[in-house]
Parts: sequence; C-alpha cells; structure tokens
Amino acid sequence: MDTLTSAYYASHAAECAARYDAADVLPLHELLQSLAPAGSRVLEIGGGSGRDAAFLVHLGYDTTYTDGCEEMVREAVKRHPELATKARCAAFPLPDDHALLLERYDMVLCAAVIMHLDDASLERLAMQLVRMVADTGWLVLSHSRGHRCPARNRDSCGRLFIERTPTNVNSVLRNGGFQPVELIENADGLGRDGITWATHVLQKTS
Ligand SMILES: C[S@@+](CC[C@H](N)C(=O)[O-])C[C@H]1O[C@@H](n2cnc3c(N)ncnc32)[C@H](O)[C@@H]1O
Repeated sequence: MDTLTSAYYASHAAECAARYDAADVLPLHELLQSLAPAGSRVLEIGGGSGRDAAFLVHLGYDTTYTDGCEEMVREAVKRHPELATKARCAAFPLPDDHALLLERYDMVLCAAVIMHLDDASLERLAMQLVRMVADTGWLVLSHSRGHRCPARNRDSCGRLFIERTPTNVNSVLRNGGFQPVELIENADGLGRDGITWATHVLQKTS
C-alpha cells in the first residue's frame, strides 16, 4: 500500500470510519443483493469502516473483510464486532505467494480504493481479481471523479489519488478477463459537491 496513503488512514482511522459509516449506500447494497444470493462467498477489498461487510454478514453472506491499513481493520472490528472473525489486513495487489490468492469468491467488492493505486498496481490487481473471482462470479468496483488534487496525484491529505475515466478502468479490467455488464454513475454518497462515482459491475467469463 502506498506509504503516505497508509499513514493518512492510520492516523485518521476513527474519523474516516465514522464518516464512511454515515454514507448513503442504499443503491450499492441493493446492487450487491441483486447479484449474488445470501450464502455466497464475498471478499471486500479496502473495506474501510466495515459498513458493507457488516451489511453482508447480517444478510448471511460468507464474507471476508480486508483493508490494507491495520488501524482501519481495528476500527472496523470495533464498530462492527461481527467482523472480528472475518477481518484481516491485506494490501492489494497482494504479494504473489499470499494465501488469499488461493481462495475463490462469488463476488468481490472494491469500493473507493483504486484511486489509491498507481497504474502498475491497478493492472496487477486486475490480474489477481480475475484469479480470485469464481467463473460467472461478480466484481463490483467503484472509483471517483472530481476530487481536487493540488499536487500531482496527491490529494490535500497526501493520499495517492489518481482519478481515471470509466473507459480506462473498464479496459484494464477487461484485459484482466472480466466482461463489463453495467456501469452506474452516482452522486457522492457523502454529499460532496462536484464529486461523482462510477460503479462497474463486471462478470468473470470462463
Ligand atoms: C476511501 S476509503 C473507502 C472505504 C470503503 N470501501 C468505503 O467505500 O467506504 C479507502 C480504503 O481503502 C484502503 N486502501 C487504500 N489502499 C489500499 C490498498 N492498496 N489495499 C487495500 N486497501 C487499501 C484504505 O485503508 C481505506 O480504508
């Protein structure tokens, strides 16, 4: 994980988690439920406050929550104790010998994370995701548009912040082996002016 990005989340974990837990995510939750039935194996990458993983656990999904920042993982478990046995620290892309790469999931959620990855890391992530998603399984991945980044590829908090067009992201994921099924564009769930989100729904084709 990018060092400055990790340092930011580590020192603001409680504040970020409280903010993320308050976001309006009803459309995302409805989407997740519509793609895979309860009981499905789901992996969340960069899960932050644990909001979405906790939602899935309550509905009976076999959920694994991950985040690359240890302090965020601790905060998620504090806020959502039901994640205690389901949470682990994992920064993506993973090292080639990481045990998670041997797992297969019916759905992977990666919301609001890839802005913190450089292009080479995003390409590696796409290759790892196609390995970890079961045949006909789903990838739901979102990224933002419209953040102000005063320094090159860094936001005002120092986080690595690379915004891409949906076309660009689709092409990386397609090269990884996913078939785009739907692209949903939303206003910001935290209500910030000028920020919009693209949510990609992709399926692994065998
Ligand atoms: C903007 S927050 C989004 C949190 C949550 N997914 C949501 O939608 O509310 C980004 C999260 O991604 C995590 N993160 C950043 N880079 C990561 C990486 N390379 N691997 C895993 N997690 C990462 C951060 O620690 C943070 O919790």
